[in-house]
Amino acid sequence: MSDPKATDVKVRLTGVTKTFAGAEEVTALDDISLEIGESEFVAIVGPSGCGKSTLLRLVAGLQDATAGEVEIQQSKPGRPKTAMVFQEHALFPWLSVRDNVAFGPRNRDVPKKEAADIADAQLDRLGLGRFGDFYPHQLSGGMKQRVGIARALAQDAEILLMDEPLGALDAQTRTLLQEQILELRQESRPTVMYITHAIDEAVFLADRVMLMSARPGRISDIIELDFPIDRGPELRGTEKFAKLSQDIWNHLRDEVQAAMTGEK
Ligand SMILES: Nc1ncnc2c1ncn2[C@@H]1O[C@H](COP(=O)(O)OP(=O)(O)O)[C@@H](O)[C@H]1O
Ligand SMILES: [Mg+2]
Repeated sequence: MSDPKATDVKVRLTGVTKTFAGAEEVTALDDISLEIGESEFVAIVGPSGCGKSTLLRLVAGLQDATAGEVEIQQSKPGRPKTAMVFQEHALFPWLSVRDNVAFGPRNRDVPKKEAADIADAQLDRLGLGRFGDFYPHQLSGGMKQRVGIARALAQDAEILLMDEPLGALDAQTRTLLQEQILELRQESRPTVMYITHAIDEAVFLADRVMLMSARPGRISDIIELDFPIDRGPELRGTEKFAKLSQDIWNHLRDEVQAAMTGEK
């Protein structure tokens, strides 16, 4: 926290509640308050159905809160507030990989050549520099997911919202992509809200892990990880890593059980 920029609040949620009307009203989120600092990486972990995706949709402005407020600090006019990475990459099948990544900048009226250059630079960063002219169906699942990440990065948004971005991948691909995401973090220090089911992924990547309770989703605990930003793959083998992962699972176990049985 010696870096003063790290203390600037980028996202502030104040008493955010979200209910869905229907035959039976569902309270997806109940009174969530949270501040996320500039360049901070917050992982969000919780049982299925506890409102994690809803939380990201509220921050993205795709849905409105029933009560409470979501504020995002904008650093320059016109900069998109959020960019989203989904579990399913959701690429446009009829566009080349380059045009998929250039889509955000083009939407903001960045000239075609410049948008293509932005796309190529992001594809390069993700090790996909050779694949700009390919189409999504020609790529593996892991590659498509990297294109999805490149596309979000190309939007140069204030906050990167990632909803189980590696959730559909096999364990080995996931481990490699975790390392790539860590490198991206180290290079450009984006502000990130990152949903994952994998506790080890949260501990490996984040500054803080926010644990959510079974429905209605509340913040049940926030765990500060004090690993340095220049951590590397060797972190996974340390005792502290194992202990923190175990502690988080101990917190979460009851919530997952409650979500599975519907009892609480
Ligand atoms: N559009 C919607 N209409 C009605 N209920 C919804 C809607 N979106 C989400 N929900 C409900 O809100 C709760 C939280 O969902 P979600 O945010 O997707 O959870 P998570 O991502 O943690 O699995 C669930 O019970 C879900 O069924
Ligand atoms: Mg979800």
